Amino acid sequence: MSDPRPIGVFDSGVGGLTVLRELQRQLPSESTIYFADLGHFPYGPRYQAQVRHFALNIIRFLEKLDVKMVVIACNTATAAALNAAREVFDIPIIGVITPGAEAAVAATRNKRVGVISTEGTMQSQEYLHAIREANPTIGVLPKAAPQLVDLVESGKANAPETEAVLREALQDILDYRADTLILGCTHYPLLRPLITKIAGDNMTVVDSAETTAARVKRVLAKNGLESAENETARHRIYVTGSPERFTETARHLFGQDLPPITTVRLELVEELSGREGAA
Ligand code: DGL
Repeated sequence: MSDPRPIGVFDSGVGGLTVLRELQRQLPSESTIYFADLGHFPYGPRYQAQVRHFALNIIRFLEKLDVKMVVIACNTATAAALNAAREVFDIPIIGVITPGAEAAVAATRNKRVGVISTEGTMQSQEYLHAIREANPTIGVLPKAAPQLVDLVESGKANAPETEAVLREALQDILDYRADTLILGCTHYPLLRPLITKIAGDNMTVVDSAETTAARVKRVLAKNGLESAENETARHRIYVTGSPERFTETARHLFGQDLPPITTVRLELVEELSGREGAA
């Protein structure tokens, strides 16, 4: 049994592309549709209810495009909307928090895990719950680093100002002597070179892109949802809002293989999702 339909993946911007890239690496015959909600970027400082509303509309939009699975490639949206989305949709939906939390629990030797994320993800405490669900004896130090998202989105992942912000964000986690760091925002894997420079090689860095893609692979295989191996994968990107900055960073990640980008009006997403005017 095989299923050639695409996997839907979404984020507020370029962050989820780190998950998309990993999905394409681990699952080369799978087609994908990536949705970047640039018109509502950033999600991090918003109320959870608002992020949930955006996320549910995007999932409805992706469902209309006949995806076979949805990956919420955004920690903030996973924290705000994963449970609600699973109650509303029958389509399989995977978030980025549990895979990262489980990988961190498996990796830590001294039972101290640091998490850097957006404000919204930190407030939700979803990482703490997911880590302690896997092992209740593990200490967790969460830290919000909201400026990093903007810096990454504007193509400054290696800039000196980014290093300064990152050093400050990581200081408490280093003082706590956490041996494992979760990149609790899908924008942060783009900061890996700076993170290694600041935290050194002794810190295990857990990137939700890798762990989430591995989970998608397992779920597809277990449920007979994989594409046939000889299937030619097709990739598309939809964005709400102006794609200039997005395209630049995306090109940096994907080079010549950057999928075609279509801009959709925010209103269209509301209309197609059948929830026009919903608050
Ligand atoms: N990439 C999103 C995440 O993983 C956050 C970016 C934003 O604030 O919109 O949390």
